[in-house]
Amino acid sequence: MSETAVVILAAGAGTRMRSKKAKVLHRVGGRTMLEHTIRAACDLAPGHVVVVVGHQREEVIPVVEQIGEQLGQNLVIAVQDEQLGTGHAAACGLSGLPDGFDGDVLLTAADVPLLNSDVLRELHNAHLATSGTAVTILTFRPENPFGYGRITRDASGDVDAIVEQKDLQTGQHEINEVNSGVYAFDAAHLRSATANLNTDNAQGELYLTDVVAIARSEARHVHAVEINTLIAAAKTAGAWADANVTGDMCVAGVNDRAQLSAVSRAYNDAIVASHMRAGVTIEDPATTWIEAGVTIGPDTLIYPNVQLRGTTAIGEACEIGPDTTLTNVTVGTAAVVIRTHGTDAELGAGSTIGPFAYLRPGTKLGVKGKIGTFVETKNSTIGERSKVPHLSYIGDTTIGTGVNLGAGAITANYDDIAKHRTEIGDEVHTGSHNVFVAPVRIGEGAKTGAGAVIRKDVPAGALALSVAPQRNVEGWVETNRPGTAAADAAARVRSAQKADDGAQEEDG
Ligand code: UD1
Ligand code: CA
Repeated sequence: MSETAVVILAAGAGTRMRSKKAKVLHRVGGRTMLEHTIRAACDLAPGHVVVVVGHQREEVIPVVEQIGEQLGQNLVIAVQDEQLGTGHAAACGLSGLPDGFDGDVLLTAADVPLLNSDVLRELHNAHLATSGTAVTILTFRPENPFGYGRITRDASGDVDAIVEQKDLQTGQHEINEVNSGVYAFDAAHLRSATANLNTDNAQGELYLTDVVAIARSEARHVHAVEINTLIAAAKTAGAWADANVTGDMCVAGVNDRAQLSAVSRAYNDAIVASHMRAGVTIEDPATTWIEAGVTIGPDTLIYPNVQLRGTTAIGEACEIGPDTTLTNVTVGTAAVVIRTHGTDAELGAGSTIGPFAYLRPGTKLGVKGKIGTFVETKNSTIGERSKVPHLSYIGDTTIGTGVNLGAGAITANYDDIAKHRTEIGDEVHTGSHNVFVAPVRIGEGAKTGAGAVIRKDVPAGALALSVAPQRNVEGWVETNRPGTAAADAAARVRSAQKADDGAQEEDG
């Protein structure tokens, strides 16, 4: 069998997005639409993957290269210098294939982000089912067909043509069978037909969709297959990824921000549902956003308003949320993370975090450790069973095991020139409101007094005190702030005390 190629169109201007950013670089579920499409193509392991770029290609090309590197795939970039229409873009895509390539071409657009490889494979199978077919069009029947090219059929029900929204004639507006913009082509037909397109249409563009009418005029067979048929076939074949989006949204195009939001919602719904089926309790799917690269162990409970992004990996039996955003965070078994914002952090099994914790990159919390309320951590390791419970900033710090930092611990890690480290040994307990002026080391088992500013190393087992003994200047307020409410309050108590003392003297 000859080779298969996938051609991805990504050269258009994306005017309807009203964005400075290239349309295909807008994200759905944390990945660019371009990456979604390239992944679907590469999952098929085709002989060739060609990405057609044009508009804003200085931004798009590096992203294509980076995705290719990440997926370990050779992606061919074909440049469409001027955006003359999808037909012209397809012809540019063909120029990225070896001369005389005569296999099948699966073509899709990078603005159809939820298309998956299972559907693409079944589209190819449907195309192969009737030999000599020039084009197989992937169609669907959306509730509102506005904006999509309509499939017109002849009296015997065969596909005649695809008519674009702006070219619709009276009576054609009601047709609800539409073109998804995803096709399987016989390469030779695509090559010859795209060479014969014209701009005789409402938009003055070279329409890829006209390839269909050209095939019919040459008495070639054109086939249309609906998305639901392909999904059913993939399921029967046992090749349907659990988190795939089903139905129309699987082939919905994104031309504006409302459509971007609709496909993002559909994509998230599918991912969230797949986690629930795998044993995760999600209290409010509507406010839980989980990206594709995230893993979650069974019996974990997710409360409302949680976003799990990037490579976040949550263990079994954890409790996450409410109101928590974790990006590339690893969470051990049975950890509890409440109202927390965390990035690039590792949290040990049985640890507790929040409410109101801010975990910055490089935070590592040991087994059964605690990062509590209004605590910010960065580039710090906090050992097993160690606790930073309240109102603290811990940066560039290594904390041993069994440590307890008093409320209000601050590591002063920056002297305006460089960052320095604080080291706190095993079993250290510190007083409230301490400042550790780095570089500084607190030895094993040491203790510090409340309010201490620790500028020098503390030996193991020592008690460090830096606050001067308290001195009370009696009567200072009445002398220096006479007539104030404070002076009156003090005077009342002091005269009552004097009377008391006098009475006691009489008794005695
Ligand atoms: C296109 C189809 C329409 C279909 C719809 C499905 C055509 C003429 N129309 O319409 O029948 O229902 O998709 O979503 O094909 N592109 C280029 N170079 C160009 C023009 C476009 O690469 O010169 C790319 C765009 O980046 C985009 C894709 O082709 O990824 C489709 O172009 P777009 O303008 O979005 O076409 P639609 O109006 O959505
Ligand atoms: Ca489109």
